[in-house]
Amino acid sequence: MRLFSPAQALSALSLLSGTVVRQQVDALTLDPNSPDSIKDVSSKIAKQLVAQYATIDDKGVHVIGGYPGVLYPPYYWWQAGAMFGTLLDYWHYTGDDQYNDMVREGMIHQFGEHLDLMPSNQSKNEGNDDQVFWAFSMIAAAEYGFPDPPSDQPGWLAMTQSVFNQFVARYNKEVADGNCGGGMRWQIYQWLNGWTYKNTASNGGLFHLGARLAMYTKNDTYAKWAEKAFDWMSESPLLTADGQVNDGTSMTTNPPCKDADQTQWTYNYGIMIAGAAYMYNYTNGAEKWKTALTNFLDKSGRFFPDQFNGVMYEICEPRALCDADQESFKAYLARWLGVCIQMAPYTHDIIMPRLQKSAVAAAQTCSGASPHGGGDYQCGTRWYQTGFDGIGGVGPQMTALNIISVLNVDRVPPPYSNSTGGTSAGNPGLGNGNDEDRLPVFQNDITTADKAGAAIITIILVVLTVLGAWWIVS
Ligand SMILES: *[C@@H]1O[C@H](CO)[C@@H](O)[C@H](O)[C@H]1NC(C)=O
Ligand SMILES: *[C@@H]1O[C@H](CO)[C@@H](O)[C@H](O)[C@H]1NC(C)=O
Ligand SMILES: *[C@@H]1O[C@H](CO)[C@@H](O)[C@H](O)[C@H]1NC(C)=O
Ligand SMILES: *[C@@H]1O[C@H](CO)[C@@H](O)[C@H](O)[C@H]1NC(C)=O
Repeated sequence: MRLFSPAQALSALSLLSGTVVRQQVDALTLDPNSPDSIKDVSSKIAKQLVAQYATIDDKGVHVIGGYPGVLYPPYYWWQAGAMFGTLLDYWHYTGDDQYNDMVREGMIHQFGEHLDLMPSNQSKNEGNDDQVFWAFSMIAAAEYGFPDPPSDQPGWLAMTQSVFNQFVARYNKEVADGNCGGGMRWQIYQWLNGWTYKNTASNGGLFHLGARLAMYTKNDTYAKWAEKAFDWMSESPLLTADGQVNDGTSMTTNPPCKDADQTQWTYNYGIMIAGAAYMYNYTNGAEKWKTALTNFLDKSGRFFPDQFNGVMYEICEPRALCDADQESFKAYLARWLGVCIQMAPYTHDIIMPRLQKSAVAAAQTCSGASPHGGGDYQCGTRWYQTGFDGIGGVGPQMTALNIISVLNVDRVPPPYSNSTGGTSAGNPGLGNGNDEDRLPVFQNDITTADKAGAAIITIILVVLTVLGAWWIVS
């Protein structure tokens, strides 16, 4: 994940200005206790989301971005992977399967030449966090019993194992090189800025994937790795003992990995909450995971402040500073709070009121006109305000869809494992191999613009750390 280049920023700006409401449509009114209302409101929002990915004509699927599985700028490759996860959730929670073929096609299309979720024409900018967001959707497909790819392709489980194996190899290299005693770097390739940053999305990603693979396969090796990733994070500045989840830690301090960027993002909490909930369930309620989960949930209360009547918000929203990545983050906290209820039922009464209040507030923002002619019900970013706030696009649509559809969590089966009905084909050895063999195309093409884009992010990170600290205090 990163900020976009100046050219993309310009096109983003023009997109955004196109999003500013010219006419409003009726707001959606959600009854959070009614399955029919949840389904109806979700389907209207899903239609608008899909319209921003693809227009479906009579010749089949025509994708706006030109290729199955990608969104147009300013959305990076990772966000399409995350969006398929949102659409899988939509199907799982409402039963509406009308987009399933499109989702399946998009997911299979990005497996990559080496079946590693590093397609050579995307991987130039790919970080561990980008890759893991695709893997999250792969394992969700396995857990929901989504039809596996054709038999000449790996199953959803195998693709998740592929990413897990790549992460383990990268982690082991960090240990061998003595870099902060382990941990995942943000980036896979050193030409990207952020190569010297160890972030929560990547490390939490290993933890979270390991926990879900353990749950699905009952292969304890995955659980051991999940615990190892978690323990490393607990000893690093990424996690505090009382459950605060920081964004990342720099390797360029003395000593390396000394301080944390303490900006509080919803999605980092979502990744950790789900990982802890799966481990809690996998271990049949071990105290270690119960404590971790309870603490993360407790601290995540900060995203549902009284000031906004308990409605979920992202720290960049009040000043409208969220970038296209950040506009989607709430989707992941919403999604994984739902899974948490299933894996750790004792959390139900803490979580459900938060989800319900936020979902009702999200629905009433979905009165924007479509930026792409795909119907109405564009949702906004600031759920705590009345009506559409003028900031639409894929991210806000995903967040609303996730938080509304997940309200049906008590009415659907928990994620399948391969002993409770999951049938996705696995391959525990997929993805073994060398990152040098996965070099992207256009490698000579890493432009100054890319590097400049990456430099900007570092600067923004520093600014955000300072601002973030200030926001939290004030
Ligand atoms: C990217 O590569 C995939 C194969 O992995 C291919 O299907 C797709 O069409 C390519 N897209 C572009 C933009 O080259
Ligand atoms: C589930 O996965 C494990 C580990 O891959 C395997 O040993 C086991 O045979 C699988 N069980 C079924 C029912 O497929
Ligand atoms: C694990 O998840 C299942 C399915 O939701 C649930 O019935 C069970 O109570 C959970 N285990 C624990 C220890 O909470
Ligand atoms: C369990 O997972 C590990 C790590 O990927 C793998 O090496 C091993 O073969 C797996 N065992 C089974 C029975 O699938």
